[in-house]
Amino acid sequence: MAFQALLGKRVLLVIGGGIAAYKALELIRLLQKAGAKVRAILTQAGAQFVTPLSVSSLTQDQVYRDLFDLTSEAEMGHIQLSRDADLVVVAPATADLMAKATHGLANDLASTTLLATDKRVLMAPAMNVRMWEHATTQRNLKQLSKDGVLFVGPDAGDMACGEYGPGRMAEPAAILAAIEDCFASESSGVLPASLAPQPLAGRKILITAGPTHEPIDPVRYIANRSSGKQGYAIAAAMSELGAETVLISGPVQLPNPVGVKVVRVETAEEMLKATQKQLPVDVAICAAAVADWKVDRQSDQKLKKSKGAPTQLSLTENPDILKTISHMKKKRPKLVIGFAAETEDVVKHAQEKRARKKCDWIVANDVSPGTGIMGGDHNTVHVITEDNVDDWPSLSKEKVAKKLGEKIAAHFAPSSKAKKDRVESVRV
Ligand code: CTP
Repeated sequence: MAFQALLGKRVLLVIGGGIAAYKALELIRLLQKAGAKVRAILTQAGAQFVTPLSVSSLTQDQVYRDLFDLTSEAEMGHIQLSRDADLVVVAPATADLMAKATHGLANDLASTTLLATDKRVLMAPAMNVRMWEHATTQRNLKQLSKDGVLFVGPDAGDMACGEYGPGRMAEPAAILAAIEDCFASESSGVLPASLAPQPLAGRKILITAGPTHEPIDPVRYIANRSSGKQGYAIAAAMSELGAETVLISGPVQLPNPVGVKVVRVETAEEMLKATQKQLPVDVAICAAAVADWKVDRQSDQKLKKSKGAPTQLSLTENPDILKTISHMKKKRPKLVIGFAAETEDVVKHAQEKRARKKCDWIVANDVSPGTGIMGGDHNTVHVITEDNVDDWPSLSKEKVAKKLGEKIAAHFAPSSKAKKDRVESVRV
């Protein structure tokens, strides 16, 4: 069924300059096997990695390379080249090609084609991990997604340059599957989640993360074991899904997630103030392990044993950030999500917490010492909404973050809003 989606389709493949260009040859073969016709544009840099002869032998057509090639222009102008296709695929899509496409540069055949086309464009990015994670590339990715460009990959893994991380071009079979999804979705009108342009683009999302430190004196403080890993992973995932993301972070040893504005604070009071300063936002996710108490009267000087150190500390309760923003009248975010760190009766306590704090969803996790969740890399959560409890399996904190991002995107998706509106109109 999926293969039929490609029968007789004309794919214009733009091969950029990167070590992954060799995979484009395999992609041509797979496309042809599936019944598609492939035309190829090879950039100057691309020709450093694969020869025009190997590309044209596979496509059984000339390889289009030069914007000012009179012969090609006489046979087929570059505008027609881009229009003649049913889909334009860029593989590998280098940082340079992405940047040119973002800004509408048209100084060679590949970039001119991307600007001139009236067809869907699917990019398979491939570049060094630092280049992929660079704020500029991430900004370009967001803009291109907003403009309707679809993406497949990149994958994470060992890279040709010896580094490790995201930046490896998706495998030809995965690109083929994405191309099939493109064509299949044209008839259904529904874009598969794997190709959806960043679904949280245009949303502002705030996340609190990490512990807070509540000073006792200039050198001592009250803290907890939160590592901040889950909150940081959530911020990274929201940004990847296109949201303008602000992370209000307590003291942790983690680098700033790519594309995220990070505000570092120390105490619960500071976290509340920094949070309020960022409002309004569409979504607030309170993942911080805020200290429940602060010391009543912090000493300006280091407390000395000799002066008779206090045998008791007098504590007062800290402001509850989640509760405060959930109860806001004017600037309440459309969706407020809390976390519940529990050590027994996890779901029951979390449900009570959701009701007490008046947040919309609560993500419950068992933080008993044996679970290894506090400070660990995995999490087992239950996502509790007004009328549902979703038990997720044990996942890496990154996967939990991504799944949560997808759930938020689905919540805001037009189809689910229409459904919600219908339900509400029935209720009225
Ligand atoms: N929270 C908050 N401000 C606080 C305390 C908690 O924003 N001063 C938020 C946390 O970020 C989390 C949720 O409230 O989203 C629940 O935190 P948790 O520590 O599980 O619950 P507590 O409110 O501290 O209640 P208890 O310690 O009694 O379980």
